[in-house]
Amino acid sequence: MATVRRLTSSAIRSRKHARFAVVTAYDAPFARCAEEAGIDVLLVGDSMGNVVLGYESTTPVELGDMCRAAGAVARGTSKAHIIVDLPFGSYQASDEDAVRSSIALVKAGASSVKLEGGESAAPRIAAIVRAGIPVCAHIGVLPQTAAIGAGFKRKSDTARLLADGRAVEAAGAFAVVLEMVDPAAAVELTQALSIPTIGIGAGGGCDAQVLVMHDMLGLFAHAPPFAKRYAEIASIATEAFRTYAREVREGTFPSRTTASEDRAASNADAPVYAISSASTKPTA
Ligand code: KIV
Repeated sequence: MATVRRLTSSAIRSRKHARFAVVTAYDAPFARCAEEAGIDVLLVGDSMGNVVLGYESTTPVELGDMCRAAGAVARGTSKAHIIVDLPFGSYQASDEDAVRSSIALVKAGASSVKLEGGESAAPRIAAIVRAGIPVCAHIGVLPQTAAIGAGFKRKSDTARLLADGRAVEAAGAFAVVLEMVDPAAAVELTQALSIPTIGIGAGGGCDAQVLVMHDMLGLFAHAPPFAKRYAEIASIATEAFRTYAREVREGTFPSRTTASEDRAASNADAPVYAISSASTKPTA
């Protein structure tokens, strides 16, 4: 088992002006791929609601969903910093809710938590930071409430964005996501703040970039236009399924052409997975 030593939030904070990549992850195998590729900041985003759970928005995602995903990502990695989203409803009502939900995420595997909102969310950020849990802020378009309120229109009110950015920085956030912020405003924010800005649909002027894994891998049919596709995994998977189904239909898989396959076939009644404890030997 690999030694677990994760990148800290203060190390990320000191990456101001050092361009770095962040990607979302929701399970162990893809998180492992991202870490092996050298991406050392992973976001267990509540975008999981759209790209994995099949919801129309992130609003229905529950704290339990995020805990389960955070645990899987933690078990699949050993060095990456894992930011985990506080889902809608888990922090808005009170500071106590925010702290309790953040503790649940940390126990599940989070290195830090992320919540949506600027000036109005600053007291929550401060409360979570006081409890010893690092917080990444998120301003601009806020998907948790966009569908029921402000919408997904790009944000370009620079004064508003600067007030939000300064408020979350003062509250103790170690970084801030800028989602669908006008690129010129994102540059101004990046210059004005001492914490790294992590852009998504906010142009190339931020300190870092984040992409939703399923968008960049071609696994999600409704990816936003700003998300560059680096692979077509859905097509590769569909082709593999098609080939497998055809080979089973044609009888070419399993082939039973090698001696070991013949042996396996003639031993088909033996239990395949034996639990290796004397007291729990399979009896079948
Ligand atoms: O949930 C998510 O994936 C996010 C990114 C869009 C930043 O919050």
